[in-house]
Amino acid sequence: MERTLVIIKPDAVRRKLIGKIIERIENKNLDIVKMKMVKLTKEEAEEFYKEHKGKEFYNSLVEFMTSERIVVMVIEGENCINIIRKLIGKTDPAEAEPGTIRGDFALKLPENVVHASDSKESAEREIKFFFGEE
Ligand code: PPS
Repeated sequence: MERTLVIIKPDAVRRKLIGKIIERIENKNLDIVKMKMVKLTKEEAEEFYKEHKGKEFYNSLVEFMTSERIVVMVIEGENCINIIRKLIGKTDPAEAEPGTIRGDFALKLPENVVHASDSKESAEREIKFFFGEE
């Protein structure tokens, strides 16, 4: 069974959207198998997003992701990596279709409400990052 990591980002926590976002995931009949609330340190956020180091948005992304608590969860289900990516919509909320989580709840970067793993390899790395080895 496939697993993916979803993060409810600081903007969504501030705006009290946790329940609404979890509802979208559960409406799709996907299983949330692990979940916790954490506040990332600068070092942790830099490590999590290290593949983007050097890009012009890297520092503002790290600053944003450390600005408030986040909710981290592991989702399980057949083909859930692709299904969740479709459910959340395009990275830039201005481009995300209505009906998607970002399309419905977000306006502009970096406040795009959620993160989801984009491949099997990143899902494995990201789940290990937050929840350790199985
Ligand atoms: S890239 O360059 O195509 O690999 O980047 P992308 O996959 O679109 O985005 C990587 C993560 O960076 C976030 N992002 C931004 N944050 C702040 N400002 C700007 N302009 C910006 N552009 C992209 C984006 O949301 C991705 O983070 P996650 O957590 O995966 O959503």
